Amino acid sequence: MKENLFAACFSLMKMLPARYILDRAEASGRLKRGGCVAETSSGTFGLALAMLAAVRGSNLTLVSATSLIDVPLRQRLELLGASVHLVDDPNGIGAQGQRLMLLNKFLQDRPETFCPHQYDNPENRWAYGRCAEHICRAVGRVDCLVGCVGSGGSLCGTGEILRQLFPDVTLIAVDTHNSALFGQSPGPRLLRGLGNSIVPLNLQHELIDDVHWVGGLPAFAAARQLYREHALFMGPTSGAAALVAAWHARTHPDDTTLVILPDEGHRYQDTLYSDEWLANLSGWPVAVPDEPEVLGRVHAGGEHEWTYLSWSRRALSSVVNDRGTS
Ligand SMILES: Cc1ncc(COP(=O)(O)O)c(C=O)c1O
Repeated sequence: MKENLFAACFSLMKMLPARYILDRAEASGRLKRGGCVAETSSGTFGLALAMLAAVRGSNLTLVSATSLIDVPLRQRLELLGASVHLVDDPNGIGAQGQRLMLLNKFLQDRPETFCPHQYDNPENRWAYGRCAEHICRAVGRVDCLVGCVGSGGSLCGTGEILRQLFPDVTLIAVDTHNSALFGQSPGPRLLRGLGNSIVPLNLQHELIDDVHWVGGLPAFAAARQLYREHALFMGPTSGAAALVAAWHARTHPDDTTLVILPDEGHRYQDTLYSDEWLANLSGWPVAVPDEPEVLGRVHAGGEHEWTYLSWSRRALSSVVNDRGTS
């Protein structure tokens, strides 16, 4: 991208943990070829599972929410043979609790079903060993890794390997406002895929040096800029990550910065790449911001804001107790 900034661009990053987890389940006998699989997903992990299920002849059930899976994605999943159960989510918060309850009920009723449990299964993180290896072969020493956090698998999985190789590597997490991952209260969010209304075990807060909360509007603007300036046609979470990584690379010219870009833009052609859709979005247009607002403590912002907190490898409980408000 720039001299000191590199991107690991995925068409569908979630294919890594989906394949790794299913392969290990098959190898250990927890899942038979052609057996039943069920999972909760906001979209891309479900899509990767559905692609694998179609090829391997498995029977896949996905639990998601009306706010997360749009009609074209649902059609894609169903054409691949997946059964899709959507929990009603009129407030757009993600209905994570209800989704997990429905999934658990489904698993209780069908004990032969294998569930990847992407939020808490460490295999989600382990799947990124290959990614870390590719990064080191392509780039060599990495001083800073920037990645979005939803389950925590990609950033923490890649980051824990890089930290073994380069103990001083800085890990920067990209979250969004109204996400519970780094201590904000969960609420409606424009961005999907990054952010969460629960805190998954795969998010290892003690690995993280800095947290950025990027709202939907700067993320959309940054994704469009990424396409215009670098011809990288990526999704909105990639826009958020690229915004943060470009700022870090600019302000740390001696660091080699690597950013993980999780998916391509095709799924977002009717939203972030549609001028008409954006024109109806409150607050649009926005310019790509030059720098984040620096925070001294966890503080929720709006969809037009980009904020930053030095996290300093602390546990979530110690940060939440420090601020004393939540
Ligand atoms: C588009 C997109 N970006 C980012 C993420 C966050 O990745 P992870 O779950 O590895 O934290 C996800 C997760 O589903 C995603 O779908």
